[in-house]
Amino acid sequence: MRLLRTVDEVRSQRFERPSGFVPTMGFLHEGHLSLMRRAREENESVVISIFVNPLQFGPAEDLERYPRDLDRDLKLAAGMGVDAVFAPAAEELYPEGFTTEVRVRGLEERLEGAARPGHFAGVATVLVKLMNIVDPDRMYMGQKDAQQAVIVERMIRDLNFRTQLVVCPTVREEDGLALSSRNVYLSPRERKAASAISRALFAARDTGSREPAVLERVFRDEIGREPLVRLEYVSADDAETLGLVGEHTRRILLSCAARVGKTRLIDNVLIDTG
Ligand code: PAJ
Repeated sequence: MRLLRTVDEVRSQRFERPSGFVPTMGFLHEGHLSLMRRAREENESVVISIFVNPLQFGPAEDLERYPRDLDRDLKLAAGMGVDAVFAPAAEELYPEGFTTEVRVRGLEERLEGAARPGHFAGVATVLVKLMNIVDPDRMYMGQKDAQQAVIVERMIRDLNFRTQLVVCPTVREEDGLALSSRNVYLSPRERKAASAISRALFAARDTGSREPAVLERVFRDEIGREPLVRLEYVSADDAETLGLVGEHTRRILLSCAARVGKTRLIDNVLIDTG
């Protein structure tokens, strides 16, 4: 497995096609590894990136404290049969004078975007760069970050990238908590309380209702039982447009953000309407 630090190093490689790409911010867990496994199964070569992207963090967010462990990540990636890891320094991707921004209007302002202004512009901008640098046939991302996946799908279409997006299911702990690099911030008590988030999502889904108001109410009732979890938002939307659920809605996205102590966690479930 090669460790690549610069854009030129990546571009001088000959990756066998089809090639799969998994962008990450590192501190790899089983959710990331599931993407690499799928990429390995479906492609001749697999490249991952490890880059804590400053553009997608707000001024009051956890950029400085975001967990990092490159040595451990490299061992895990090697174990998954990854061919190359692109782990650039921030100055490599954002040299002095960098000013371009990619925005996916209409999708980036809602849900997570409303809570984190500028977040998705940062995500879209870094992914355009990474796709241009790596030039993969397929890119693998997680359903855990549902809005991110919807935005990237639209951006790929709008900008005519030839890369195909493959969205993979959310990997969860035994008690339902979605795996996240941020779970390491949780104290043992908070960790236990955090399982209320997925429990509330599943409770809403399992009512069988397709009514946004009902789904959101059941979710709120259930999560209200756990005093350590402070809900930021819950929202039932059309999973493709992120707009209102209507007669053309094929799947409903029930998504939420909540704080457990100081840690902000997001999760979601998809609900078929058919
Ligand atoms: P990061 O949070 O490191 O996640 C990298 C990829 O792993 C994303 O596609 C995310 O959806 C997926 N992932 C995270 N937790 C998962 C889980 N429990 N199950 C399945 N997949 C999971 O998302 C980012 O980084 C960044 O925004 C990035 C796309 C790399 C751009 O900077």
